[in-house]
Amino acid sequence: MTVDTIHWEGSRPGFARIIDQTLLPTETKLLDLKTVEQMFDAIKRLAVRGAPAIGVAAGFGVLLGIQAHADKQADDVLGRTKETCAWLARARPTAVNLFWALERMQARATRDHAAKKSGKEIVDGLFDEAQRIWREDGEICRKIGAIGAELLKDGATVLTHCNAGALATADYGTALAPIYVARDQGKTIKVFADETRPLLQGARLTAWELFESKIDVTLITDSMAGRVMFEGRIDAVFVGADRIAKNGDTANKIGTYSVAVLAKEHGIPFYVCAPLSTFDEKIAHGDQIPIEERGAEEITEGFGKRTAPVGVKVYNPAFDVTPARLIRGIITEVGIIERPTTARVEAALKKGGRL
Ligand code: MRU
Repeated sequence: MTVDTIHWEGSRPGFARIIDQTLLPTETKLLDLKTVEQMFDAIKRLAVRGAPAIGVAAGFGVLLGIQAHADKQADDVLGRTKETCAWLARARPTAVNLFWALERMQARATRDHAAKKSGKEIVDGLFDEAQRIWREDGEICRKIGAIGAELLKDGATVLTHCNAGALATADYGTALAPIYVARDQGKTIKVFADETRPLLQGARLTAWELFESKIDVTLITDSMAGRVMFEGRIDAVFVGADRIAKNGDTANKIGTYSVAVLAKEHGIPFYVCAPLSTFDEKIAHGDQIPIEERGAEEITEGFGKRTAPVGVKVYNPAFDVTPARLIRGIITEVGIIERPTTARVEAALKKGGRL
């Protein structure tokens, strides 16, 4: 799938162009984001979503906030960069790629400022850094895809949850990358996609991008995952991640934990596919991962149709944490972390230069 989820248009001044994912699958509309406020809003309302894509969006968001200030003093540019990063960090709490990208942007500006560069040169550096984050994400998707595809035999069937595909990254995705690469290698792979209540990323996005790519995809409701596993239809589960603690506990879209428990019961290998930028080396265990809570209306009147009594109490956590013990392996760009433990995660982070 070569869907252009997010990219930068033009040079400087320029703008970010995204597919408005809130409108898929019925409308494929590109949205031009010209201010940092527009980028903040796009992240918050999930017009751009999925951990790696949020990281890329954050880099471009900083550029949008700073590009008009290239004629200012270096101190001023650095100060504005820090303020912009602090503000963008409030867009969503769980996907660590947001904070990872903002830290990377801020570190670049700080380094260039310390090297006595001018305001314009600092902005040039930020432009370069944001483009690198975008480009590297695409390369990482391909690596995860190549490593993950080795696990898929011709004719295999994979179950996935939420959307960790092209729409969640700058290229092939994470959990869907092995499927795209296996397809490119000539294998026939089938996918069962959980619809993923309440925002239906599985139905609206995963089913859409796989269907468009002519990959055999079957949509099921979340509650059917156990049934298709029981019927022996699933060879492996591949999901993405929003934040991975140092011991391998993994936060991903709400419902992922239930899928992992079901996979365990049925002896089906459960794989997480994620770039090293999704690891939070500051967090030892999954219970320290902040979980976003979203509005009640997503459950009571999803997509404009009321399906619950007015005034009923609602709890709407957007993510859950799958304990490392349920994970067969985490597929990263530096290899598979088999049956993750703190020591194995640390070894992978060292290999990738993250520690
Ligand atoms: O709320 P969303 O749609 O941003 O949640 C996305 C997910 O949970 C994805 O599985 C995760 O970010 C990995 S994307 C490669």
